[in-house]
Amino acid sequence: MKKRNKRRKRLYRLIRLFLTLIFIILLIYLVYLGIKSFIKNPENTNKENNKTEEKNQIEEPKYTKEEDEKLKKLDYINEKVNYFKWENIDRYISYKEKNQDLSNEKIVLYVNIGIDNDFYTNITSSPNQNTNTILLNKYYAVDSSFVPKNLKDIDPKYRGKYLQMTEEAANAFNSMAKDAKEQGYTIRAVSTYRSYSYQDGLYNRYVASDGKTKADTYSARPGHSEHHTGLAVDVDNANLSYTSFGKTKEFNWMKENAYKYGFILRYTEENEFITGYKNEPWHYRYVGVEIATKMKNENINSFEEYYFMYLDK
Ligand code: DAL
Ligand code: ZN
Repeated sequence: MKKRNKRRKRLYRLIRLFLTLIFIILLIYLVYLGIKSFIKNPENTNKENNKTEEKNQIEEPKYTKEEDEKLKKLDYINEKVNYFKWENIDRYISYKEKNQDLSNEKIVLYVNIGIDNDFYTNITSSPNQNTNTILLNKYYAVDSSFVPKNLKDIDPKYRGKYLQMTEEAANAFNSMAKDAKEQGYTIRAVSTYRSYSYQDGLYNRYVASDGKTKADTYSARPGHSEHHTGLAVDVDNANLSYTSFGKTKEFNWMKENAYKYGFILRYTEENEFITGYKNEPWHYRYVGVEIATKMKNENINSFEEYYFMYLDK
């Protein structure tokens, strides 16, 4: 009996030992799995990296003392708009000193456009020539030999005399004039592509009759006219002079519909300070449907602003 009890006790002890061993092995295995997954988890790795980055940022300041002093004056606008240009920072600051009421976004945008310089100074050759996004104004020009490629005749039904625009702009104009006609509105092209020498003659005749200062408010100097690109069109309603187009029902139709065909009203009272031209309700510029629609949706008042927000490199 005693012997049997003793054996049973030994057996129990062995079983306990065995179970304890299994339990310890299991525990070690679980701890191993836990460590492994912690190391592999990218979140943990990222957290570690971020911590290192934060540390680095604290150690290395983002800006030099001089940069920081300048950026402070502009409320660190460089961190809010992606069209901020370091090379213009001193111009931003001096333009802001003269125009305290403007937001920092506008300061940066207007200086990038160049309006802190007088018109017809700091003239650059236009990039994007022969594209729908070419910018011509009092700071950007094409040279006298420039002739747009792919000029196409405007449909005789929708023009006052023989006129051409680039193929894409001409197609868009023809289709806009056709749709307008079907809805009871007459949109007629009266001036489109103008060569360098044509614009030169025109501008000089205006200067002779009105003087240079006045002529500059309504006529572009040669090399600076959008008409030279084949993307601009002056319109009338075949009844009143083009200069009265702003008073016509056709003008209201254009306000509602021109963007659907890729045209924008280029010179308005709101953007005169940027373009340097008086309001021209008759002058439309082809930029393509996507840009014209975006400008309308985002209430962007001039092609210059659009260009320097989205196209300038
Ligand atoms: N009238 C516009 C500004 C031009 O001459 O191109
Ligand atoms: Zn025009």
